[in-house]
Amino acid sequence: MTSVQVFFKGTIKSWTHQSWSVRLLRLWLGITFTYAGLDKALDGGFLNPEATTYIGKQLAGFAQQSPISPLLNKMVEHATLVGVGTMVGEIAIGLATLFGVLPFLAAIAGAGLSASLWLSSSFYTTPYFLASNTAYLIMWLVFALSVMPRKRTVSRVLNVDRRSAIGVGVVGVLSIAFAALGNFFARPAKIVSSGSRIVTKKGGGAPDNAIAAISDLNVGSALPIKLASGDPGILIRTDNDEVCAFSAVCTHQGCTVDYDSASKELICPCHGARFDPLQKGKAIGGPTRTPLTELPVKISDEYIISS
Ligand code: FES
Repeated sequence: MTSVQVFFKGTIKSWTHQSWSVRLLRLWLGITFTYAGLDKALDGGFLNPEATTYIGKQLAGFAQQSPISPLLNKMVEHATLVGVGTMVGEIAIGLATLFGVLPFLAAIAGAGLSASLWLSSSFYTTPYFLASNTAYLIMWLVFALSVMPRKRTVSRVLNVDRRSAIGVGVVGVLSIAFAALGNFFARPAKIVSSGSRIVTKKGGGAPDNAIAAISDLNVGSALPIKLASGDPGILIRTDNDEVCAFSAVCTHQGCTVDYDSASKELICPCHGARFDPLQKGKAIGGPTRTPLTELPVKISDEYIISS
């Protein structure tokens, strides 16, 4: 029997020997983790330090409020490596689960990754059920229990037979190929870090980089602005001589945040993320820990200008 036949025969056998409940769990976890890795590969900003979705910016945001902040701060120094590892790791865990390659180890790796995502990004999410990482952690543990070898010797856990060796090779090659292909066809990165990219203009003799006349914005109120990328932004006058501006794209799943003048917070209508404009857009509640992207603005004479 050829290596390909051995591999696919083992995959089919692994599905036929499972109950429907385990098959359903396995299918969901396998597809979701493969998709999660591919989604990162297809995001042109994930490995681009200039982009709003850069893994380094996400890690730095998570580190502001996480029980493993020191570790995350260390990871920021090697952000690209962490990003590539997460992307390829998720695809490998997903494919190994679907193909039935070392399923117990894949499940433990999936549980470990879900636990680390939970500690990094959603440990303080309230209510807790908005953090999907906890649900995935439990699902992986249940799956691990269902495929755990009865006798847990090293050779059984590692399943050192010909098919496993072929499977590790197949999953490894496919994971790297999928990640590379995803990066090749990636969506363009969203870059909104430069003040000159605010394109809302005040006409009638105003300076080129004017965003609004100071008289148009009362203390404690906000104005929507438009960024060159097409994304919405928001300009806020926090005091007589203090203004700030942010990309209004929520760092959770991209809804548009709005300014609530009563609480003086930026609030996302989708899942309730809250950001503090007085703390550089820091996430202070809801399902994200990543701050909003701040845009450099200042008051100059009668105008608020991008600086
Ligand atoms: S998109 Fe989910 S909280 Fe904003």
